[in-house]
Amino acid sequence: MAKLWAGRTSGFTDKVADDFNSSIAFDSRMYKQDIAGSMAHAAMLGKQGIITQTETDILVEGLAGIAEDIDKGKLAFDISCEDVHMFVEQTLTQRVGDVGKKLHTARSRNDQVALDMRMYVREYVGDLTSKIKTLIAALVSQAEKNKESIMPGYTHLQRAQPVTMAHHLLAYCMMLLRDVERFEDGVKRLNVSPIGSCALAGTTYDTDRAFEAKRLGFDSVCLNSMDGVSDRDFCLEIVSDCAITMMHLSRLCEELVLWTSLEFGFVELSDAYTTGSSIMPQKKNSDMAELVRGKTGRVYGDLMALLTMLKGLPLAYNKDMQEDKESVFDAMDTLAKCLDVTAPMIATMTTKPDKMKKAAAGGFINATDLADYMTKKGVPFREAYKISGQIVAECIGKGKTLEELSLDEYKIHSDVFDSDLYQAIDLKNCVEKRTSEGGTSLTSVQKQLAFVKGAIGL
Ligand code: ARG
Repeated sequence: MAKLWAGRTSGFTDKVADDFNSSIAFDSRMYKQDIAGSMAHAAMLGKQGIITQTETDILVEGLAGIAEDIDKGKLAFDISCEDVHMFVEQTLTQRVGDVGKKLHTARSRNDQVALDMRMYVREYVGDLTSKIKTLIAALVSQAEKNKESIMPGYTHLQRAQPVTMAHHLLAYCMMLLRDVERFEDGVKRLNVSPIGSCALAGTTYDTDRAFEAKRLGFDSVCLNSMDGVSDRDFCLEIVSDCAITMMHLSRLCEELVLWTSLEFGFVELSDAYTTGSSIMPQKKNSDMAELVRGKTGRVYGDLMALLTMLKGLPLAYNKDMQEDKESVFDAMDTLAKCLDVTAPMIATMTTKPDKMKKAAAGGFINATDLADYMTKKGVPFREAYKISGQIVAECIGKGKTLEELSLDEYKIHSDVFDSDLYQAIDLKNCVEKRTSEGGTSLTSVQKQLAFVKGAIGL
């Protein structure tokens, strides 16, 4: 069949060219948005007297029927159509006759596709932010169970200072809250309607862009028609947001992989989110966590593909831009899947406070507190730091912990030491004393918990 755009050419294209050019295989997922956009367009054309009200009614009813039939699986996408826009318009004309040919008045596929993408992404972002909040809620539930679970905090992956597991997990909540904020902020810029930009230059018809935009839930209309059809910044922003969120998930999952190893043993994942080995009977592998980490690279790839696709394009629409869809969809789909698996994996994991405590007891993570003890007794911090380091070295030589060194052994290093030093280096006290805002003490952690819970409406 000749294409809808036959005229200047015969409209008969080679099959290889057709397959290459076609986007219906991936843009058909925007059919609801495409149809909603067309309904608003038909209503606007009628309101402005560009078509009659009766024609508007026929078009709107025809479009509603198409949406319903696709929903019910009664109407299949014709893959010989170039894209979802052509498919809907062609089906409409088949169903309602020649009046269907009036729908595309004062419109172009260029503003139509920009509109559909914005609406599709806008809706999807709502799903993503609610999935992120579900993950935050899972982290909160674990944090609540582990407010007193002391573990080593690490820098350079070396044991550094004692923290609680709750404090550690809340750090991820903060990252994820920023992700939600970033997505919501992106939607503000995205929620500007391009429809009415037409091919690139606007139109000679007396259209009402604001009317159409309002019907479709947009806050405003874009002020430059060339920008309206050329802009894909919103795709870049949302995919960047996906990439950043994936990076956060990847760091969390990397921790899970470490924590579930025999070497750490801080956490055990539920069997439901682990796999076995085909050869080694003892294995319980954290495949889901590893896959989330692995899929992060793929979302970065989507971002790079988009940035690169756009960088050399002259204004206005170029067919290269059809390539935006697979990158955007893949990034959002991948993030959605990763969130879907990470949230229950976190919610169902079992933490092992004894193992954490054991790790916290080795590694001299109270050495800073030992230095602080001396500082509070008048020794300048830099000097106290040095003495504390020398004591650690002595302990390593003697195979002792700081708690096991006798007061006499301490006194050799400085006469400020007294029996109250053991209190100062007690791990629980080390945690409890870190009452500074954002610190690891219980009171501070409780404040953080309250903040996070408030932010997600728990
Ligand atoms: N399928 C196209 C896309 O996704 C729709 C816009 C086509 N516009 C055009 N002038 N060929 O970008």
